[in-house]
Amino acid sequence: MADNDNNIGDKNGLKEEKEFKRYLITAALPYANGPIHIGHLAGVYLPADIYVRYLRAQKRDVKFVCGSDEHGVPITIRAMKEGITPQQVVDKFHAIIKSSLEQIGVSFDIYSRTSNPVHHKTSQNFFLNLYEKGLFEEKESEQYYDEKAKTFLADRYIIGTCPVCKNPNAYGDQCEKCGSSLSPEMLINPRSALSDATPIKKKTRHWYFPLQHYEAFLKQWILEDHKEWKNNVYGQCKSWLDNGLQSRAMTRDSNWGIQVPLPDAEGKVLYVWFDAPIGYISATKELISNWEDYWKKDDTRMIHFIGKDNIVFHCIIFPAMLKAHGDFVLPDNVPANEFLNIEGDKVSTSRNWAVWVNEYLKDFKGCEDVLRYVLCSNAPETKDNDFTWKDFQEKNNSELASIFGNFVNRTFVLMHKLCNGKVPVLHGDVMDELDKALIEDIQSAKTKVENAIEDFKFREALFEVIDLSRKGNKYMQEKEPWKKVAGNDDAGNNQKLIDNCLHLCLQLTANLAILVNPFLPFTAKKMLHLMKVVDKILDWKNAGSIKLLSVGYSLRPPEILFRKIDDKEIETQIQKLKSGLVKPENADTKTNEQAMPTVNSQELTANDQPLKAQIQYDDFAKLDLRVGKIVEAEKVEKADKLLKLEIDLGFEKRTIVSGIALHFKPEEIVGKQVVVVANLAPRKMRGIESNGMILMAENAAGKLIFVNPDEDIDAGSGVS
Ligand code: 2FM
Ligand code: ZN
Repeated sequence: MADNDNNIGDKNGLKEEKEFKRYLITAALPYANGPIHIGHLAGVYLPADIYVRYLRAQKRDVKFVCGSDEHGVPITIRAMKEGITPQQVVDKFHAIIKSSLEQIGVSFDIYSRTSNPVHHKTSQNFFLNLYEKGLFEEKESEQYYDEKAKTFLADRYIIGTCPVCKNPNAYGDQCEKCGSSLSPEMLINPRSALSDATPIKKKTRHWYFPLQHYEAFLKQWILEDHKEWKNNVYGQCKSWLDNGLQSRAMTRDSNWGIQVPLPDAEGKVLYVWFDAPIGYISATKELISNWEDYWKKDDTRMIHFIGKDNIVFHCIIFPAMLKAHGDFVLPDNVPANEFLNIEGDKVSTSRNWAVWVNEYLKDFKGCEDVLRYVLCSNAPETKDNDFTWKDFQEKNNSELASIFGNFVNRTFVLMHKLCNGKVPVLHGDVMDELDKALIEDIQSAKTKVENAIEDFKFREALFEVIDLSRKGNKYMQEKEPWKKVAGNDDAGNNQKLIDNCLHLCLQLTANLAILVNPFLPFTAKKMLHLMKVVDKILDWKNAGSIKLLSVGYSLRPPEILFRKIDDKEIETQIQKLKSGLVKPENADTKTNEQAMPTVNSQELTANDQPLKAQIQYDDFAKLDLRVGKIVEAEKVEKADKLLKLEIDLGFEKRTIVSGIALHFKPEEIVGKQVVVVANLAPRKMRGIESNGMILMAENAAGKLIFVNPDEDIDAGSGVS
């Protein structure tokens, strides 16, 4: 699918546009049990920030709220392992996350935290509101319990011997060695990961929210009234709704979290996904006294920026809670992004396969906008995308520095050389077609950027900004003001021609500052400094004008906007990433969070990515899946992730390049049977043509496992 083809219908005037008076923009509250990585930025915080900066430049009434998500099991586990309190864990990471987001320029109006008393109170009142309406179902169930640590245990926190491969450290939901899917009952000698005690089954009581009662409302509200939502979001919601909703436990047994505000509920806390989204309300309350305007008035436009793993919580569960409560507005859009992979592999905090924002900020001081640029221009808006350090370098050197930075720099150098450092006059009598075309380009860029941002297509919007600077370079190249010597053409017009060129290039520079500001705010600031103008010029309404800089106004000497990034810096980062490939003590936080206890069958589990949108049999039938045998395997030079495989498909031998080198040694896999997508169009990888793809499964820890038939079968056999 084309990247810009991501909306389902209903945009072309079919639906009446609602007039909104104010905007409430939320960005998913990050868990305070680790620093944030660039996937968080690309998926959530940068798009949200770009949108908010644009709305502010439009002078719209907007509040941008976020904060740390400080409850949930992983935090208590981390605290226990490190011998500190959960409060100490969240204090540490709240500070790190807050500072990273600030330094990279994410401009929240408030960055709060869910351990704040106002949040506890707000969440408890919310719970009580539903409770008093009699909306919860109170149910008893049996859960695993650690008598020593005095806590109920998620399956993930029960360890024992795998019944299949006898690995003594298999988890209650999966054996990482052989990949078998397990349940705690299957483990031999199960023990608690917290205390080593043998877990017992114990009865516990919880309050369940009957999501099924909101199915009809959600179907109407999302599937009918919000067809304009992004395909990935709409499709995921549809899949959840088509599968039918069930009651969900909204409380947990724990001593860390928000107390259930009922007299007979000692040791019970609110489920972290019950309280976290209420954090948006609490943060708004903390920020402004008229918070109710933003939460209770119909002409508020609330937009949740999130990653795809949060879709069900923000589009189904939280809206059902809001609906049940009755007082609050619902989100008008939830433009969730997909995931950003790193160097061809999924981000895995447990394998330390990530680029951490706090580390980046230390390693690339003054290059905040470079990261913003690279992550936005490659944002996973419609599908998972890949970040590579080489691409980062390329985008900085060949786009930011060579196109955008170069245009601004040339303009300033030439204006000082040929126009005495002052904004020259625009001489109407010698204006030509090129001048007029440039003015039109400036004006149409404004509309293009604006439309794309309003549509949450930030990549496209940013492309238009860079494209305008590209046009500036082309214009300059065609005009060649440096070749004109004042006063000696036939008509004595040369200085006029120089003036016109530099006048328009300077006005274009001012326009670029306005248009680039939502994306690269540090750069926009530097440009204001160069032009000696104040922030006011960045008002969006000024974009498209060619009267932003006054004639005769003297400007500062040129300064480089973007330095080049050299190979050595990139090599260092690649090495850093690879050397981090050791398993740290702490398991992947998200995996753990999603495997909390006291859940029903609809709870998310370790590998539970919600299903992709439904397809028809015909779509599936297009795939030609065949069994093949690996007959040769070797490393691909200068590509640490890639193996070049020769696959015997019975009727022919194929070369397939596969990104599995970090998981398998070549000699280990020769002779293995695999399932191959045999009719995939060829693709060149590192100069080698790859003719197909091998199917792999991935376990919760990110380990890859071959998908293969469970007995030997002739190569070339079909799979269906
Ligand atoms: O996935 C996450 O990182 C969650 N902490 C997001 C919570 S968003 C909201 F509901 F607060
Ligand atoms: Zn096993």
